[in-house]
Amino acid sequence: NKILAWQRSAYHFQPKKNWMNDPNGPVFYKGWYHFFYQYNPYGAVWGNIVWGHAVSMDLIHWRHLPIAMVPDQWYDINGVWTGSATILADGQLVMLYTGSTNESVQVQNLAYPADPSDPLLTNWIKYSGNPVLVPPPGIHYKDFRDPTTAWLTPEGKWRFTIGSKVNKIGISLVYDTEDFKSYQLLDGVLHGVPGTGMWECVDFYPVSKIQENGLDTSDNGPGVKHVLKTSLDDDRNDYYALGIYDSSTAKWTPDNPIIDVGIGLRYDYGIFYASKTFYDQNKKRRVLWGWIKETDSEDTDVRKGWSSVQAIPRTIRLDKETGSNLVLWPVEEFDKLRLKKKVFDNVEAKAGSVVPLDVGSATQLDIVVEFEVDQKALESINGTNTTYSCNANGGAAERGALGPFGLLVLTDNDQVEQTPVYFYISKDIQGNFSTFFCADHSRSSKAPDVDKAIYGSTVPVIKGEKLSMRVLVDHSVVESFGQGGRTCITSRIYPTTAVGDDARLFLFNNATDAGITASLQIWQMSSAYVQ
Ligand code: FRU
Repeated sequence: NKILAWQRSAYHFQPKKNWMNDPNGPVFYKGWYHFFYQYNPYGAVWGNIVWGHAVSMDLIHWRHLPIAMVPDQWYDINGVWTGSATILADGQLVMLYTGSTNESVQVQNLAYPADPSDPLLTNWIKYSGNPVLVPPPGIHYKDFRDPTTAWLTPEGKWRFTIGSKVNKIGISLVYDTEDFKSYQLLDGVLHGVPGTGMWECVDFYPVSKIQENGLDTSDNGPGVKHVLKTSLDDDRNDYYALGIYDSSTAKWTPDNPIIDVGIGLRYDYGIFYASKTFYDQNKKRRVLWGWIKETDSEDTDVRKGWSSVQAIPRTIRLDKETGSNLVLWPVEEFDKLRLKKKVFDNVEAKAGSVVPLDVGSATQLDIVVEFEVDQKALESINGTNTTYSCNANGGAAERGALGPFGLLVLTDNDQVEQTPVYFYISKDIQGNFSTFFCADHSRSSKAPDVDKAIYGSTVPVIKGEKLSMRVLVDHSVVESFGQGGRTCITSRIYPTTAVGDDARLFLFNNATDAGITASLQIWQMSSAYVQ
């Protein structure tokens, strides 16, 4: 039980107890960041879903507020499900959310603040004309959910999209509205991808090719690309793709159909689902929220009395270096939690070595590392034709000429329980390098009932760039960002011995040929204040 208590996070958003899933309706309103979420007030498993609610001035410290909406109408009696906020031209706020009806039909409903002058948005009114949308012909009654934030069309109408599927084709339907009460379903779909199944929690927003700032959801024009994101119900991961949106036809086309949405890039290669962005007009940035579920057993969740955390909100931008992927990075406010810093300059790790990093307690850390890989080894080793993949290969235990190397987080003194977060470089016969960013959970816990998969993917590396990672350790949650956030991996880890003061941090290099040098900055992290 002490171990279960230790697992609770210190700086990730969580309710005091019980089950949580998707982020809902994130918005900045009258000086406060509002965060709503799918919540079960009665237990640590999914069910009885209401909208939990909390507010913050900085996205890090939170104040819990009363539940915003409960299932009390025929059109949401089986659950007040996921939805999104839209700020209208006059500053008014509207929420569109999915209700599961008395017959478990998925319908869309409108809600708005009872008192728009209340910055805390404590009370919500459900529109008397709800539901405002029911599943259209040809759409199954259980495949119509999670409306996005609306954006303006050049004609001045509001437009939004809702995920669905037809047979195994994942699709996103598009609606126009002037008043959020009556709606027009547009012909065709925003986009669809065969074989991807039900699209949950679709998100759709512009990113700038030029500026660092984020864009309001309604922004469009030259210099803008549009991101389409879907949460695939079938494989429980969040996929995105970059493309071009044509407002006259209400269609989106991927830049590269080979990596279309649902079959290509992911926000995160670990545990990260049902995410949603919002435009933060306060700091002119786009911020991503994502749900981190548990990967232990339901029984254990019930015993500990809670389930899930939210990822640290991440700023999201187009990668100007590659032009072909996004970069995700913890919001800058998060740095305010940094306490004591330890610096390790040019630590050498020879091929096949493990180096302890003495940081004291290693359960709440922010770790920034830059690696240099022995140039001679990079040049002299022979390329091979074998293709590497984080999860198909033997994890951190499998040695290659140029990797794996990285960190062992939440590791006990004897390295029996250990979680490697690492790079692996491979060289092909033409002499081209590919770099992989992975996290290996196969030895993360002695407990039998937890997920022990290996996650990860390739990470783009520009010529001349050093390899770098940032790893946030928070008890049972680890968020890892490769190459400035081009590839991210979120882990849930349930150690039994590497807990409390017995959790340690190591640098490792399991390559057979290449030595590495690492320069590290490591901060102890303060806990967030949640009231
Ligand atoms: C995604 C999801 C949504 C739905 C909500 C219900 O995790 O299944 O599609 O609206 O959760 O809690």
